[in-house]
Amino acid sequence: MDIKQKIRVIEGFPKEGISFKDITTLLSDGEAFKYTIDSMVEQVKDKKIDVVVGPEARGFLLGAPIAYSLGVGFVPVRKPGKLPSDTLRYTYNLEYGTDSLEIHKDSIKPGQRVLVVDDLLATGGTISAVAKLVQQLGGEVVGISFVVELTGLNGREKLEGFDVNSLVKYEF
Ligand code: PRP
Ligand code: MG
Repeated sequence: MDIKQKIRVIEGFPKEGISFKDITTLLSDGEAFKYTIDSMVEQVKDKKIDVVVGPEARGFLLGAPIAYSLGVGFVPVRKPGKLPSDTLRYTYNLEYGTDSLEIHKDSIKPGQRVLVVDDLLATGGTISAVAKLVQQLGGEVVGISFVVELTGLNGREKLEGFDVNSLVKYEF
């Protein structure tokens, strides 16, 4: 199946110059969604994964079904103030300003083998922050999986040393 055909590209969203990769058209197509999840699981099935971690919001849409398929747990990474128990926070730089993400401190046990999942790799800022949170809790990031990779933004360089997988590539 050609996953790329199921992704809708919207030029100029959310602002001029951005070519938005809209995965809602992929998710709403049952056959394409199943194929996507099965393909992402196939890439990592021999990694002895203990738990899947994904950032809100779109990371939940892929991470939870992948965890279910692998028969392991799913741990959410959320924007500040959303997780109710004790959290660890990581703050990272954006082009203008900063952003923060949080994880429950007791969600990962030291030594656990973690798969990090998100819909899309752009600059790599989001997923680097997720990987840092996992590592600070003592987890081992054994893989990072995306549906879409924007190769022109060099996110992969930021993720050097990790085993990065993606199903579909665009330059921008
Ligand atoms: C988008 C996308 C990735 C991130 C990729 O999320 O879902 O998480 O940006 O960009 P980066 O590699 O430059 O960090 P967004 O922050 O728009 O939020 P959402 O998932 O809640 O829609
Ligand atoms: Mg996101």
